Order: sequence, then structure tokens, then C-alpha cells
Amino acid sequence: MFLIFLRNYSQYGFLLNNKFHLYKKRIFAKKWIVILHHLKKFYMNRGGIFFLSLFFLVTNLQGQTSANEAKMQWFRDAKLGIFIHWGIYSVDGVDESWSFYNKKMPYADYMKQLNGFTAKNYDPEAWVELIKESGARYAVITTKHHDGIALWDTKLNNMSTAKLTPARKDVLTPFFQALRNAGLKAGAYFSILDWSHQDYPGFLKDSSRYEIKNDSARWKRYLAFYQAQIKELSVQFNPDLFWFDGDWEHNAGEWQAKKVREMILSRNPEAIINGRLAGYGDYETPEQNFPITRPSLNPWELCMTSNNNWGYHPDDTHYKTPYELITIFADVISNGGNLLFDIGPREDGWIPTEQVHLLKELGKWNRKHAEAVFNTGAGMPPGHYYGASTISKDSSTIYLFVPAHNQGKTVIKGLYNTIRSIKVLGTGQSLQHKIVGKISWSPVPGLVYIDEIPENAADEYMTVLEVKLDGPVKLYKGKGGLAGE
Ligand code: GLC
Repeated sequence: MFLIFLRNYSQYGFLLNNKFHLYKKRIFAKKWIVILHHLKKFYMNRGGIFFLSLFFLVTNLQGQTSANEAKMQWFRDAKLGIFIHWGIYSVDGVDESWSFYNKKMPYADYMKQLNGFTAKNYDPEAWVELIKESGARYAVITTKHHDGIALWDTKLNNMSTAKLTPARKDVLTPFFQALRNAGLKAGAYFSILDWSHQDYPGFLKDSSRYEIKNDSARWKRYLAFYQAQIKELSVQFNPDLFWFDGDWEHNAGEWQAKKVREMILSRNPEAIINGRLAGYGDYETPEQNFPITRPSLNPWELCMTSNNNWGYHPDDTHYKTPYELITIFADVISNGGNLLFDIGPREDGWIPTEQVHLLKELGKWNRKHAEAVFNTGAGMPPGHYYGASTISKDSSTIYLFVPAHNQGKTVIKGLYNTIRSIKVLGTGQSLQHKIVGKISWSPVPGLVYIDEIPENAADEYMTVLEVKLDGPVKLYKGKGGLAGE
């Protein structure tokens, strides 16, 4: 019976995509805890050794899940991280790595950019100051992109900014140091695929070096190489977060993803790993595309560029406006995610003015609305409010995000609680509300109509209303039936 149950359970059809493997495992583990608890109760009445072993299994699984949740806490609270794509591609301002892979330029020309990477105006403290000013609590920097050029002084080959560029240095150490001095968490982006490495199979979009099945010794050499580089990163920087990329070219078994995860965690059990380690990560990473339905697999992080490119691209002027960035950010946190917002410095370390402007405007807005943004939880599910919201940790305050210069009243549907007060965050201005359509003999709550936000209290990007309740938020989810169903 047990086996049949297990089989049925695994047919639940959790997202079968490879990337979701680990979430599947984690959700599965959680469900197991519940199932095993029931079994525990059942066997407790009968005594028996079976109970004892089950007990240890339950305790162990619980331990693992809660340890994982504890390690994810800073990440859940952080909401905002800054992504930095810096590499030799910022010399000519071409697509990072993809420009040679997609044959937009010859590999040799791409590599000539090594001669132009100077880092001569690089000021890691100033970078960190800007990151901090934006309100971000962590940063993730490219330690090595798909082109194989390491930004630290790797001992495993000479493909680094320290060995092959006029910068002649490891540019990461001072950045990690500055982040830590500022109390920010430090993340390392690392491409597990390396199109420059002679032992790596992939090279250009229509040509590769070899196939793993024909030369497993060569693939093993590559495995040893890339894993040793990760070890270097672990030892040298002890990143709080490993942001892997490039797993799509091979499967988890080929990458030895489980082993890599264990290697990282054995050095630092607190390290967080993003979801691009062939399913062995801790959170999901949608890229550029905003998820329309709230991702069911928490936590998650949307990574997004400030224009349409990750690295320095002076010809790309399609920058998001501060209004767009802030409304996207509000939407992300309303859905329980983090935003990892990207900047692409030039080869000398200069950050494009538009990007500086975006981070500063976001920072100004974050400082004014910090209470509604950081250390909060996802907002009300769709249907209760037409817009983004968050809920305080104690669950007794709802924050409503209202796009700038919105005319008309703000409405909340299906709220059982009594509202204690409504304030425009950052201004102290109080707003009145009216309950509309509350039928005295029906348990279904009425509609909350909040007064218009006075023009002088409105934020230029997004106004936030702080709605204090009489207790933990309680929402009605029914169909409007008279008896409350
Ligand atoms: C992609 C691209 C890469 C970029 C990354 C950031 O997977 O390969 O160029 O660095 O996404 O998320």
C-alpha cells in the first residue's frame, strides 16, 4: 500500500522540468513530513520499532527543511539585489560572451578586448556606496562569464583579468571586501560552462569540440577544472550566494551538480545557491520575463537588465524609467519575490549615468517606503486589490502600492478585519475610508473604499498606503453567497 501511495504521489506532476528538480524534492520533503507525522501517530498507538525509525526520519527531514528556511531568511527579507556584469565585453560594448558564440564577431576579435580592459577608474567603495544607496541588501558580480575570463587571479589557468589584461589585477577581492565592510551580502555569479576552455565541449553555436560520450576523460578534466575554480571562489571569497549560470548545456549527472552543491555547503552551510545548478539550487530565477502567475515555488528572484543588455552596451538606450523600475519592483515583492537588478560598468569601472540615476531614484523611493518593502511578506493574492501590496511580518498591516497620480479611490475587497488607520507612507497624511455594501446579516465583508490620495501627498513614482488592521489579516475568498460561502 505504501508503495502504491508513493507512486501516486510522485505522479502529482510537479513541474517536471529539470530546473525544478530540487524544489520538487523540497516540496516533496515537506509533504513527507506531514505524511510521516500521520504515520507516526498511527504507530504510536501500537508501539513498535517502526515508529522509532520513522521518528528519526521525520526529525531529520524537519531539521533539513527548517535549516534551509533559516539560511534563506536574509534573502527573503532583502527584496533587492544589484547584479553586475563586468568583463572584457565592456571594452567594445558587445554582448557578453554571446557575441562570439552567436558569431556576431570572430572569437579572436572578441579576445582582443583583453588588451583594453584597464579598470583604471575602478572604485569598488564607490560602487558599493551606490549599491547601498539603492536600498539593495546584496550584490552579485560576474566572477567569470561564459567566455571563460576570470575576474580573480585563478591559479587554474591564465584566463583572467589578472594575467591577460592591462588591469593586471584581481578586481573581485576589493569589491567583496567593500561589500562586507558595508554590511551587504556578497554573491558570486559563475558560469559553469566555459566556451574558451579546451576541454569544454561547446564553443560556437554551430560547432563544438567533442561529445562527452566519445571522450569521457576529456570531460572529466573539464569537471575537475570548473569544480576547482568554484573551490577557489569558496576559499577566497566565501560568497554568501553562488549565482550559477550556463547549466542548460548538460544535465545534473554530467555536471555532478549534487557533488558541487555538497562541496559548497561543506565549506559554508549557510551559502545560498541559485536555481541554475541543474536543479540543485535553493531558489528559482526567472530572467527578464515577469511571471504572470505568482510562482508557487518560493523563494524566487527576477533578474532584470536596466536597458536590454546585461553588460556595458553604449548603443542600447532602451533604459527603463525609474517609474517602470519601481512599479516592476513593487510587483515582484507583492508576489513574494526579490529583484536582482543589473548594471553593466564600462571596462574602466565607470557606471553609465542612466544606471546611476535609476539606482539613486530607486534608493530615494526605498528610503521613503522602507517599512513597506523590506522584511515584509508577499501581498494579498489577486482579486483583493488591483495592484501590488505587501503584508507586515506580524500580518496586521497591509501596504498598498498605488501608481503615481492615480485618480479615484483605492479599493480592497474581501477584508474581514476592521481597519484601525490608513496613512500615506512617508508623509504622515491620514486617509478616511468607507465600507460599501456590507449587509448586516451576512458574514461576507463589504468593500473598502479609501479616499483619494491628495495630490500633495502623492509620490512621484508610487505612493504607498499603510493600512493598519485590528489583528492578523483575514481574507474572504468566497463567491459572494449570502451565507458567506
Ligand atoms: C543568461 C545569459 C547571460 C546572462 C545571464 C544573467 O543566462 O547567458 O549572458 O549573464 O543570463 O541572468
